[in-house]
Amino acid sequence: SAGEALSTENEGVRRRDFINIAAVSFAGVGGVVALLPLINQMNPSADVLAMASTEVDLSGIQPGQAIKTTFRSQPLFVRHLTPEEIAKAEAVDVSSLRDPQTLEDRTVDGRKEWLITMGVCTHLGCVPLGAGEGENRGEFGGYFCPCHGSHYDTAARIRKGPAPLNLEVPPYTYTSETAVLVG
Ligand code: FES
Repeated sequence: SAGEALSTENEGVRRRDFINIAAVSFAGVGGVVALLPLINQMNPSADVLAMASTEVDLSGIQPGQAIKTTFRSQPLFVRHLTPEEIAKAEAVDVSSLRDPQTLEDRTVDGRKEWLITMGVCTHLGCVPLGAGEGENRGEFGGYFCPCHGSHYDTAARIRKGPAPLNLEVPPYTYTSETAVLVG
């Protein structure tokens, strides 16, 4: 009948539409996937992230304590040195060091009690221990990298083990007595 013919035709149209829509969708998905690396490359958020600064509140960190936070997606150690730890760092013959730097070289504004370094071992990038209370600070009282046994001293300078350099000190400035802006 005419009614059946019409409905069969409509089915056909619907099926064709579905197939067309499906084809378009697949092309769309394929196109988006193909474009993703390009879009990621153009996306400025990675650069913005790389430029981001980290504000650290120092007020709760007592002498002898350290915290681990992050700076540009990497671990950052902020350590409040005790007078004994400062004295220990300053008693070292700097010329005997693998990466010769004084504690003064590694701190800002003469505030030697605040040691701010990346928490990234300069050997192969593990996170050294010693950023919290009661953690293994190693034989030189600073940080100990459990991956291959690098020891850093109370100024986070490399003293023993395979790491070639001191823990990196990122750029930072004091924004008040108790706050620091890293980056
Ligand atoms: Fe730290 Fe190898 S990564 S000692």
